[in-house]
Amino acid sequence: MTMYFHLRWTITTMILVFLADAYAPLDPVQFYKKECPRARRIVGDMVLEAIRRDIRLSAALLRLQFHDCFVRGCDASILLDSNSTNLAEKDGAGNVFSVRGYEVIDNIKEALEAVCPQTVSCADIIILASRDAIASIGGPSWSVTSGRFDAIASYAEDNLRFLPPPSANFSLLSQMFAQKGFSEREMVVLSGAHTIGITHCGLIQNRLYNGTCRNNIDPTLDPAYAVELRRQCAFGNVSKPLLLNPTSGGYSFDSSYYTNLLRNRGILESDATLITEASGREFALEAAFSPSTFFSEFASGMEKLSNLEVKNATEGEIRRSCRFTN
Ligand code: HEM
Ligand SMILES: *[C@@H]1O[C@H](CO)[C@@H](O)[C@H](O)[C@H]1NC(C)=O
Ligand SMILES: *[C@@H]1O[C@H](CO)[C@@H](O)[C@H](O)[C@H]1NC(C)=O
Ligand SMILES: *[C@@H]1O[C@H](CO)[C@@H](O)[C@H](O)[C@H]1NC(C)=O
Ligand SMILES: *[C@@H]1O[C@H](CO)[C@@H](O)[C@H](O)[C@H]1NC(C)=O
Ligand SMILES: *[C@@H]1O[C@H](CO)[C@@H](O)[C@H](O)[C@H]1NC(C)=O
Repeated sequence: MTMYFHLRWTITTMILVFLADAYAPLDPVQFYKKECPRARRIVGDMVLEAIRRDIRLSAALLRLQFHDCFVRGCDASILLDSNSTNLAEKDGAGNVFSVRGYEVIDNIKEALEAVCPQTVSCADIIILASRDAIASIGGPSWSVTSGRFDAIASYAEDNLRFLPPPSANFSLLSQMFAQKGFSEREMVVLSGAHTIGITHCGLIQNRLYNGTCRNNIDPTLDPAYAVELRRQCAFGNVSKPLLLNPTSGGYSFDSSYYTNLLRNRGILESDATLITEASGREFALEAAFSPSTFFSEFASGMEKLSNLEVKNATEGEIRRSCRFTN
């Protein structure tokens, strides 16, 4: 048993190392090629190492990018700690008790500061780490342009304006993605991120126990799945974590998210709602039948997300520590 487990890990590691080499040539713009030639390799290696130890960090890093980029752009505002006069994004709604992976970024930053001080921004680290994380678990890869600058402020109240809540319906989601320049199709594509990772029972409690239909189960949820979810989520046990997508085993990046949506097994209301409109249902069908369509559009969507409202040298800085402004 131990041997088998060990062997599996060895093979997984070999695949990870192979992928690490495979994605390097994708990068067109290497901003610190001269100042910090090892930067991308260091990020890639450290992400692989972190995920090898704990595969759940792959999902954490992907989400970190979404929540950073949607709130005032990809500027590492999500990484700043709160201080005595200000509650920062990380401690606000949608992030607190839920966004994870901060220590991975801290460790990478520390390693980079040791080889090339104040050269690689925390904002770039998030984007590179998220890309490398998804490639490492069998997902697609995409190009990352570097050169983002870090925010000098972070405000928790911004989260409410920009981070979509799990209860959101199709029109609210469309509106929130449109305000960031994303189409409905791109929104459905990027939601495929929920192929991996976790949520918590508290966020689906009203779907399982206080719906409007028989047994108080949300009528849009597959009844068999609802029974399974009720088994995992006792009423009131709001902080219990559970997989967003058990079909993928939680951390294998594939198109099973869409297969599940079509079987009424989208776990959050914001997932289930995606197939209530023709445009969403159409993409779900395409993705379910053709994983390569999902992969290529997800990669494009992530690349676009990576370049959202990027700050330049006048607007930002290169932090020394990702948790504090200089
Ligand atoms: C469409 C609107 C979206 C909503 C309403 C939404 C909401 C949520 C919620 C409520 C969770 C569970 C949090 C928890 O229980 O701790 C979650 C997890 C996650 N979300 Fe989203 N999300 C959306 C889109 C996205 C996008 C676009 C991405 C990335 C491209 C993403 C990536 C993730 C990942 C990877 C997780 C798992 C995190 C982990 O395991 O730590 N989500 N999302
Ligand atoms: C607290 O954080 C805010 C916003 O990030 C920043 O503008 C302010 O300078 C910080 N205050 C202290 C005392 O560090
Ligand atoms: C969607 O949600 C918004 C905000 O919660 C609400 O105002 C709107 O009526 C809802 N739309 C539909 C079609 O249910
Ligand atoms: C929701 O359902 C639970 C369990 O069935 C019940 O204890 C609770 O009172 C219900 N709450 C509301 C507001 O209906
Ligand atoms: C609630 O969830 C925790 C895990 O987060 C578990 O240890 C505990 O047994 C659960 N309690 C109930 C009443 O199901
Ligand atoms: C940075 O962007 C701002 C706003 O778009 C612009 O006014 C400024 O000239 C830019 N600075 C540099 C150094 O590109």
